[in-house]
Amino acid sequence: MSPTLTDATPLPAVATDGLSILESPKSAAETFGIPLAVLAELTHRCPLQCPYCSNPIELERASSELTTEEWKKVLSELAEIGVLQIHFSGGEPTARKDIVELVQHANDVGLYTNLITSAVLLSRDKLKALADAGLCHVQISFQGNEPAAADRVAGLKDSHRKKLEIARWTRELDLPLTVNAVMHRQNLHQLPDIIQMAVDLDADRLEVANVQYYGWALKNRAALMPTLEQIEETSRLVETAQERLKGILAIDYVVPDYYALRPKKCMGGWGRQFFNISPSGKILPCHAAETITGLDFLSVRSNHSIAWIWQNSDAFNRYRGTGWMPEPCQSCEFKEVDFGGCRCQAFALTGDAGNTDPACTLSPLHERIFKTAEAEASGGSDRFIYRNFAGGTPEAGSGDAS
Ligand code: SF4
Ligand code: FES
Repeated sequence: MSPTLTDATPLPAVATDGLSILESPKSAAETFGIPLAVLAELTHRCPLQCPYCSNPIELERASSELTTEEWKKVLSELAEIGVLQIHFSGGEPTARKDIVELVQHANDVGLYTNLITSAVLLSRDKLKALADAGLCHVQISFQGNEPAAADRVAGLKDSHRKKLEIARWTRELDLPLTVNAVMHRQNLHQLPDIIQMAVDLDADRLEVANVQYYGWALKNRAALMPTLEQIEETSRLVETAQERLKGILAIDYVVPDYYALRPKKCMGGWGRQFFNISPSGKILPCHAAETITGLDFLSVRSNHSIAWIWQNSDAFNRYRGTGWMPEPCQSCEFKEVDFGGCRCQAFALTGDAGNTDPACTLSPLHERIFKTAEAEASGGSDRFIYRNFAGGTPEAGSGDAS
């Protein structure tokens, strides 16, 4: 069905900051630059229980998930308003029985499809069916390279072996593969082997993704926070590997912002380049946005089109541009470079998403937060709180560093 671009109303009184997309009352797709890529979180169900999961603490139940027909309508609408790529994620997207049908539909409406998966629910037949349905790319998350340690982080026995098997099948089926390795204090020492594992698996790309601390990861920060020495060593190692593996493996790496001088330009700036869709159809400015309280996120089940929500909803406009910024951001020369950092992190660490991200050294709260992180990195317990629908389960037994 065609999206209702005509229901776009004049822009609300948000700041104008030189962003042309915020200044013209034309159609949403034209004026707000509909993102080229969208993340579809098909479900929050997942067989893994990673303690750094980016899903909200309050996970959405299966009963609230969009139906197959609703997702198909969403995919058609996305294609019509100019989205080019759809990233199927979760939770675990293959926990949805209709995953092949959804990939087929996305392919039919002309979307490039990427599957972001823990892989453990896949069989060779299922992977083949996905490839036949037009799947373009597979991204598999790894918890490390040592099987027992990786299974412990995932909270699922035998998961690492299954991931390796499915990664090999992915390449046998000639699908491009990205290895996504989430890094933290307890697995950073494995990085050289993880890089080699990605080469051996014939991956095109390796994402060395340092944990971001909101939601589940914030609950587990003391167990995950790396030391400054670890980060310095990692940066050196990645740089050398990037040089050595040019043309063989692309390696993406971002310094964790607790150890950076300035924060990351999270999501390319709030409401500028990205949105994702939650399992129940809420349109969110980022995957962790629901960790911020007090924002009302509209759903594809509302009577507004996706483009209208992107352009007009309060949740997207609240932190768009630079007009909302407090000092020191407001008079900072970097305000259109990093857009004040991450709103979710500002909320998680200061209780107000409208504050400067404390990862910035100019934030008055930076010093205190960095010191806490430093203390946790050197003295925190190694025990995890596993992510699940029960609101988290403390890891049993051993594993405590203290
Ligand atoms: Fe970025 Fe604000 Fe820090 Fe300036 S003060 S560097 S705009 S976060
Ligand atoms: Fe939500 Fe950074 S993760 S704005």
